[in-house]
Amino acid sequence: EKGGYDHFMLKEIYEQPNVIKDTYRGRLHANKGLIQMAGIEDNLEKFLNADRILIVACGTSWHAGLVAEYIIEEFARIPVEVEYASEFRYRNPIINKNDVVIAISQSGETADTLAAIKLSKEKGAFVFGVCNVVGSSISRETHAGAYTHAGPEIGVASTKAFTTQITVLTMIALRLAKAKGTLSNSDFHRYLQELELIPEKVAEALTTNDKAKEIAAKFKDAPNCLYLGRGYNFPVALEGALKLKEISYIHAEGYPAAEMKHGPIALIDEHMPVVVIAPKQGHYDKVVSNIQEIKSRSGKIIAVVTKGDTQVRELADYVIEIPNTSDALSPLLTTIPLQLLSYHIAVMRGCNVDQPRNLAKSVTVE
Ligand code: M6R
Repeated sequence: EKGGYDHFMLKEIYEQPNVIKDTYRGRLHANKGLIQMAGIEDNLEKFLNADRILIVACGTSWHAGLVAEYIIEEFARIPVEVEYASEFRYRNPIINKNDVVIAISQSGETADTLAAIKLSKEKGAFVFGVCNVVGSSISRETHAGAYTHAGPEIGVASTKAFTTQITVLTMIALRLAKAKGTLSNSDFHRYLQELELIPEKVAEALTTNDKAKEIAAKFKDAPNCLYLGRGYNFPVALEGALKLKEISYIHAEGYPAAEMKHGPIALIDEHMPVVVIAPKQGHYDKVVSNIQEIKSRSGKIIAVVTKGDTQVRELADYVIEIPNTSDALSPLLTTIPLQLLSYHIAVMRGCNVDQPRNLAKSVTVE
């Protein structure tokens, strides 16, 4: 059942090239310059007339929501707010009829997300679900939606659900951008083509497994770890840190790289591993100066870089190379080595990778 892998988590990490393809199959038509998603086509006017989009979710799905915020605002120029469902539901939020609410949930059973949906419906908003489990409570409770088609995710640590959620949300952003004319035709076509190439690039990113294992061996006994990224890769830093803490029980924090100087920099010394996400297309020069700040305080730098990078390589203690893609799509690739890193660290620490202590796959209680 684990398909020859030691754990479901590793199997699910390796399934990503295929499931991302399953997610866009029949929806992304790069050669025709088309995105077709029934749930969006049927409700296009609601999205186009929306004053704003509110995204509600928990955990890893909330991180996918943060990536989507950056992508939807950049491509479709619609204001987006991302909320923890548990906070949203209890803070008497302002929800209007012209708001579109997107609820993201792998299981489709998360209690807080479900409650946030019910509240949004009571206030008259249109609610769209991005779920993985077909027929789940959230998929039934929402007005419309799009499934991620990742297949069953058994490992408690979410991996393929995250990358397929981002794939769906990117397609939504592109479809809305097309309708609104907020992306040039050439950019729109370029993104479709690049998205189509993502599965093979994820496969290439998976070849960093040995490197991730080698780095894991060096840092498996660290009590703390910091993850830094900027722009589209800031949420990836949060997700990398969540993955490490939930399966290896190492305390980890994700931060936008530039926020480091507002506090966390005080933590850095020669014992602190800092994972920096530094792809070429991002705010590269800014991230390089953040790396210099860490280095001058003797922090240990593990950098995720674009293949062929030389500048970060000179500064970092370890580098993991991923293929090149545009900035907006880079989370689909930068996430991969971070999943592998936390997996190997957890295995080396003798942790129960697929069923970490105190955690359940679906959180059906608030
Ligand atoms: O099923 P959901 O996507 O609604 O679950 C939300 C979170 O409970 C979930 O992502 C959790 O954070 C994972 N264990 C993270 O790996």
